[in-house]
Amino acid sequence: MKKSNIVLIGFMGTGKTAVGKIISDKLEYLFIDTDEEIEKFCGTTIRQIFEDKGEEYFRKIEAEVVSEVSNLNKAVIACGGGVVKNSDNVKKLNSSGVIVCLKADPEIIYKRVCSDKSRPLASEKSKEEIISLIKEREHLYRVAEFSVDTTYDSEAAIADKIIDFYNTSQ
Ligand code: S3P
Repeated sequence: MKKSNIVLIGFMGTGKTAVGKIISDKLEYLFIDTDEEIEKFCGTTIRQIFEDKGEEYFRKIEAEVVSEVSNLNKAVIACGGGVVKNSDNVKKLNSSGVIVCLKADPEIIYKRVCSDKSRPLASEKSKEEIISLIKEREHLYRVAEFSVDTTYDSEAAIADKIIDFYNTSQ
């Protein structure tokens, strides 16, 4: 099957949702955010899901959402930062999409996410804890075929880089 989707992975705060929306507008592709789908399915926020049911339950729903969205064509799929923890998720996303990783300087990531209460794995964490989680996840993000640093460039410029890569990979 041709890989017509663009799958954005990367740590929290690297700009997957914002950049993904720009790409989907430019290519006229459907935009999907896995966190949004999980919230729709559960009828509540990610924060509340973590609080009420815990991370394991969240990961189970996340895997179900990934199975569904991997069947789409011509979609830009912005994934939650932890989606790569499950190798089955990666396999499914990779079967129908070009996986692109968004990266950023850990200090900048910390600044972007530290006061965001909607992210249970980032809020109330120290800078050291966030940086250590980024390091822990680093090897998992290497599944991407292409990586872009989002520390300094505008979201539109990052979107263009990804579109260029996607077009040449088709
Ligand atoms: C998570 C990242 C979040 C969300 C959940 C868990 C993670 O998504 O899926 O809070 O484990 O890194 P974003 O990367 O969109 O913030």
